[in-house]
Order: sequence, then structure tokens, then C-alpha cells
Amino acid sequence: MRIVRAKDYQDMSEKAAHMIAEQIRRKPDCVLGLATGSTPQGIYEKLAEWYCAGELDFARVTTVNLDEYRGLDRGNVHSYYHYMKEKLFSRVNIRQDRTFVPDGMEQDSGRACREYDGIIAAVGGVDLQLLGLGHNGHIGFNEPGTDFETQTHCVELTESTVKANRRFFSSIEEVPGQAYTMGIGTIMQAAGIVMAVSGEDKAEILKTAVCGPVTTMVPASVLQLHRNVTVIADEAALSLVGNAGQAL
Ligand code: F6R
Repeated sequence: MRIVRAKDYQDMSEKAAHMIAEQIRRKPDCVLGLATGSTPQGIYEKLAEWYCAGELDFARVTTVNLDEYRGLDRGNVHSYYHYMKEKLFSRVNIRQDRTFVPDGMEQDSGRACREYDGIIAAVGGVDLQLLGLGHNGHIGFNEPGTDFETQTHCVELTESTVKANRRFFSSIEEVPGQAYTMGIGTIMQAAGIVMAVSGEDKAEILKTAVCGPVTTMVPASVLQLHRNVTVIADEAALSLVGNAGQAL
């Protein structure tokens, strides 16, 4: 596991965006695994900026997102599809039919998950997977206790995740209680993984995930077993990890 130390959120975003841009330049028809939430917003901002400056071309890129709330349609402003459209897809020249997010409106969860795994297989697997880190160590919506072998599945969100996501909704009742998510097994099949982490509130869990034992109780700790993982974190998030890491 490579740990890259960034100064602050801005620097972290730029360094992570550079890795993604490099992936696209190296393999223009690559498959990117993408995440939502607060952390990647600055990364998408940078990618959109570089596209506008003519420095990046998404014409042949395919994306598969980690997760989607169950029960929200694509037009819903709280859906992750909507988030991706707003933050990235509508701002770059990616083909809409090459952007995949689990179908939150598929009521048959078995079918929704099977179809999503089928899509990931059909596009040839993920070249570079972007991850954020949940306060309880979750990656995607894989909550503590999730088996490391899981593929895409339907999850009941824990109270802490529902509370953490409350900030995006007008009331806690509106936060869906279930989501479809790539499993830990799905995430681990990516050829490369970059996990972006920012802020003092993530310091404790980041230390546990990268320095602690590998355990299903801390889903992100599984990344210690992957051959090609880069953690890009700012000073605040790395404050408990000591002096590990180098500048890019
Ligand atoms: C989002 C996702 C989640 C977030 C995590 C951190 O697609 O899969 O695992 O990455 O909850 O969220 P933020 O970045 O909002 O702190």
C-alpha cells in the first residue's frame, strides 16, 4: 500500500485527479470505478477543469459507480446517478451510455445486483477504482461485518451511515435505509485502487484501516491485501499515521 501525503483537501483532490488523468491518458478506453460523497467532489472539479482546458478526453472512457440508494430514481436529486451527472458526467465528453450506476429502481434486489455484476464483467473489469472512507471504515456501502468475498449486493444501512448521509437530505426520514453496492470482493478485483481521505474526523479510522489488523469489522482494512492501492490523504487525516507517505 502506497500512502501519499497531501497538504490539504485541495492538494489531495489534485493528486487523486492526477492519478485518474494518468490512467485515462495511458489507456483512453479505460474503466473507472467511481465514488460519490463529499470527498471526491474536488477530484471531479479538477477533472472537469482539465477537460475544459483540452487536457483530458473522456470520449472512450467507461465508468461504473460503487453504489446507489435503493428506491431512488435517476432523476431524484438525492440519487447517486444525479450526483455523478451534476459533478462530472454533464461536464465532460463521456458517453452517457458508458456511465453505469446500480439501478436503484429495480425492486428485485437479486436481479439488480446480478445485472450490475454482469455489467462490470462485460466492460472487462475496473482499471482504477476511486474510493472514499466511511467513519466506520466502510467502503462503498459495505458496512462492518461484511464478508470480504461479497459481490454486488443489497445492504441495510447502519444508523451511523444514515446519520452521516443526513446532511444531503432535508430530514433523516428521507434518507433511504437500503442501497445496492459493489461488494468488497468486487472492489478488490479492480486492477488498481485509489482511496482519497480528508479531514481530522477521518484520522482515527484511517489509522485503524491502514495500520490495524485486517478484519471484516473494518472493511477498508482489506485494502492492505491488494497489490496496487494508493491512499491519498491530507495532513489532517494522516495526523495519527505518523510520517508514512511521500509527496508525489
Ligand atoms: C460513496 C461511497 C461511500 C463514501 C464514504 C465517505 O459512493 O461509496 O463509501 O465514499 O461514505 O463519504 P464522504 O466522502 O462523504 O465522507
